[in-house]
Amino acid sequence: MMEVAAAPTSAVLHRARAGNSSPNGPGNARSSTVGPQPRPAGPRLPSPVVTTTLELIDVTKTFGPSGGTAPPVEALAPTALDVGGGEVLTLLGPSGCGKTTLLRMIAGLEQPTTGTITVDGQPPALARRNKRVGFVPQAPALLPWRSVRANATLLRDLNRRQRPPTTAPTVDELLAEVGLADFADAFPHELSGGMQQRVGLVRAFALGASLLLMDEPFAALDEMTRADMRHLLIRLCEPLGTTVVFVTHSIAEAAFLSDRVAVLTPRPGRIVDVIDVPFPHPRRADLEDAEDFFHLTTRLRDTLRSGSDR
Ligand SMILES: Nc1ncnc2c1ncn2[C@@H]1O[C@H](COP(=O)(O)OP(=O)(O)OP(=O)(O)O)[C@@H](O)[C@H]1O
Ligand SMILES: [Mg+2]
Repeated sequence: MMEVAAAPTSAVLHRARAGNSSPNGPGNARSSTVGPQPRPAGPRLPSPVVTTTLELIDVTKTFGPSGGTAPPVEALAPTALDVGGGEVLTLLGPSGCGKTTLLRMIAGLEQPTTGTITVDGQPPALARRNKRVGFVPQAPALLPWRSVRANATLLRDLNRRQRPPTTAPTVDELLAEVGLADFADAFPHELSGGMQQRVGLVRAFALGASLLLMDEPFAALDEMTRADMRHLLIRLCEPLGTTVVFVTHSIAEAAFLSDRVAVLTPRPGRIVDVIDVPFPHPRRADLEDAEDFFHLTTRLRDTLRSGSDR
């Protein structure tokens, strides 16, 4: 079980976003926070803000053949997608349909077989070198010999030559935001799974990346901790205008977190539909009990099924 994060002092994150200075993106519709105890509705976040957009045009991926007699594996059929600045877009699809492959291509860690991907008009590898892109894997993979603070600064330390934007929140500010201020000098083995995952989130946000790629980051957590992590993620990325591409198998998670959900077919993955999530912000924890939420999850489930039948 995750202990409840300390009440956030999100003013610092709002300050971070206020210091930015480039145009709004189309998906920047989120105007406030999502969490179990939403902050009172305040003024809209200051604009203009820095947000990152993503474009995929006819992207495909076929692996191999890797030698021997194994045939090539077509992981992803032609895929086109636009993600607006500050938008949370979820990829929802069955196991093996190419979600991780797609994220790795967006991160510049894998080359598409055909098609093009651009992050703010740049090739992904360049965007990653410019620290616009952060990758959050399923397991936070903390280094056991480094303290919480030292793990959280790891990506910054590895990228010393590229300073994060001066407007990015500091690691200590982020640790306080996620309720880990008192654990900054602790080591990973002294933390629960949920706490470790929060350190992983801080590490990604500390890099100052404006595009976060998240590959089932909460899959290993129990349902209550997972719900807490959803709130925390949105609380962190909303004031910063972070664009998020989030992979999950959980229909409820996709419906709660996202501005839009892209539903994929089984391998070779292809986007069957991109579904708008109409719920306004701030989203309250009890949204999941609402009839409209039930209707949306039913539609997502039906779309997943229809993709599997094709
Ligand atoms: N490096 C690789 N070499 C060869 N085949 C690969 C490689 N990476 C992925 N694949 C294949 O591509 C397909 C898609 O894999 P991928 O990991 O992207 O799926 P996924 O949607 O993330 O699945 P899951 O939900 O189980 O994580 C699979 O058939 C997998 O075997
Ligand atoms: Mg995967």
